[in-house]
Amino acid sequence: MSYDELIEEALEARKMAYTPYSKFKVGAALLTKDGKVYRGCNIENSSYTPTNCAERTAIFKAVSEGDYNFEAMAIVGGFEDQKELGLCAPCGVCRQVIREFCSDDFKIILLNGQTDGKNTYDVYKLSEILPLSFGPEDMKIKPRK
Ligand code: THU
Repeated sequence: MSYDELIEEALEARKMAYTPYSKFKVGAALLTKDGKVYRGCNIENSSYTPTNCAERTAIFKAVSEGDYNFEAMAIVGGFEDQKELGLCAPCGVCRQVIREFCSDDFKIILLNGQTDGKNTYDVYKLSEILPLSFGPEDMKIKPRK
């Protein structure tokens, strides 16, 4: 699957966002190494703290189905009334959750513009957006297969 297609999956995922409080809708599409896509959206809560980000929803869906081999994740986000989406980078908590299951070269594809109906994006490695990180191997835990 191309990164363009993965961005489209994230845009579809965003449509399911439950955001009555912030009105900020995020979509994520997690690509496994065997080509499966798990979609995630943010799910808010009246008590605020239990809110789950789109990226974590996608990861937790995959892990709860026994899938652990991830290649890339596309992330898109913006306010519900926004005409063209700009950059929406993953929060620190989501970066750490991604770190639990993904290697340094896992790719994060961030939509950064939608000029004239065309999506543009940037591609980052996990190690670029979460340098000097703490992960399972620091706790002497081997990555799951
Ligand atoms: N949000 C995400 O879903 N992912 C991020 O990485 C950043 C923030 C959500 C959480 C909340 O529902 C809304 O965006 C505003 O913070």
